[in-house]
Amino acid sequence: MNGLLCYCRQGFEPELAAELSERAASAGLAGYARTQRNDGYVLFVCEEAAALDAALPWRELIFARQKLRLIEELRALDPSDRITPMLAALPRDARYGELWVEHPDSDAAKPLAGLARSFGNALRPALRKAGLLSAKEDTRLPRLHVVFVDGDHAFLAQSAPADASPWPLGIPRLKLLPDAPSRSALKLEEAILTLMTPAQREQHLRAGMTAADLGAAPGGWTWVLTRQHLHVTSVDNGPLRQHVLDTGLVQHLRADGFRWQPAQALDWMVCDMVEQPRRVAERMATWFREGWCRQAIFNLKLPMKKRWDETRLCLELFAEQAGKPLQVTAKQLYHDREEITVLATPRQRG
Ligand SMILES: C[S@@+](CC[C@H](N)C(=O)[O-])C[C@H]1O[C@@H](n2cnc3c(N)ncnc32)[C@H](O)[C@@H]1O
Repeated sequence: MNGLLCYCRQGFEPELAAELSERAASAGLAGYARTQRNDGYVLFVCEEAAALDAALPWRELIFARQKLRLIEELRALDPSDRITPMLAALPRDARYGELWVEHPDSDAAKPLAGLARSFGNALRPALRKAGLLSAKEDTRLPRLHVVFVDGDHAFLAQSAPADASPWPLGIPRLKLLPDAPSRSALKLEEAILTLMTPAQREQHLRAGMTAADLGAAPGGWTWVLTRQHLHVTSVDNGPLRQHVLDTGLVQHLRADGFRWQPAQALDWMVCDMVEQPRRVAERMATWFREGWCRQAIFNLKLPMKKRWDETRLCLELFAEQAGKPLQVTAKQLYHDREEITVLATPRQRG
């Protein structure tokens, strides 16, 4: 079976299917999406799977939590021996650096977590004995994924660790610290971890940098920025938690985030205002066009319908109106609900 298997947030299969179909078509590759609402994954069947894989980097996919290259679909697996057909389906000359046994993050598949854990423990030694799995984790080799969608139905797939989510199920395990002012703090933490590379984090998130946080109350995103020792102007008519103000790094302004502008250019602007996505995209573009910030992370809350169309439209609007070349990365993060998170940075030369 040729194609891709991508995980997504349950309920966002149509958006992911539309994204994959459109991106495959623009790369000149024929294929079709196979999906069912609330499955938490989409298959994109395509004969030219290698070309498709290369044309759709995981980082650039908005609705895909994970991107895997399909090897085989196995149905009617015998619960007393699922290992033999799996070994038979893998190419003899394959060698994997790691094994992840997973299931989609859907209501129907979550109960398969126990099976995935115990099956992984049984399959690992069998793969090693067959010479298919390295003795120790090796991220230079492809990673093998077994994806159970039912007790007797699984997909074999592989990922390239450099072009895939580094977390099983594509879900980063972030802990909400007790002093985080809101759960929203996890969204910005995940955005920094997922949308930025380690080199970008080191270079662009440094102590002493300046930031604005639009729609800041009760202070989760501001708190994340102060933990990186940034100086933050937090704009919101609502109150910020006292311990955030006590960092000495925060100025709280009770103002309208759609009107306020900084007196001097800032290193960062972040925005979590709940508003119509087009209005937010336009305001974010104004910040770049006017040179008020060098880089930004912002949320776009999606409507109930035509969410892929709205996503594409907002990102196009933002890119057009920003008036300068930007590197834009957008993702529906695990901690995002009906929204996506966007990182915009100056485009690197070369
Ligand atoms: C989802 S909450 C932000 C949560 C925050 N990022 C955190 O981590 O705690 C959205 C906030 O946007 C604020 N907001 C909405 N419209 C605004 C506007 N026009 N100007 C300033 N703040 C606004 C609301 O008051 C609300 O506090």
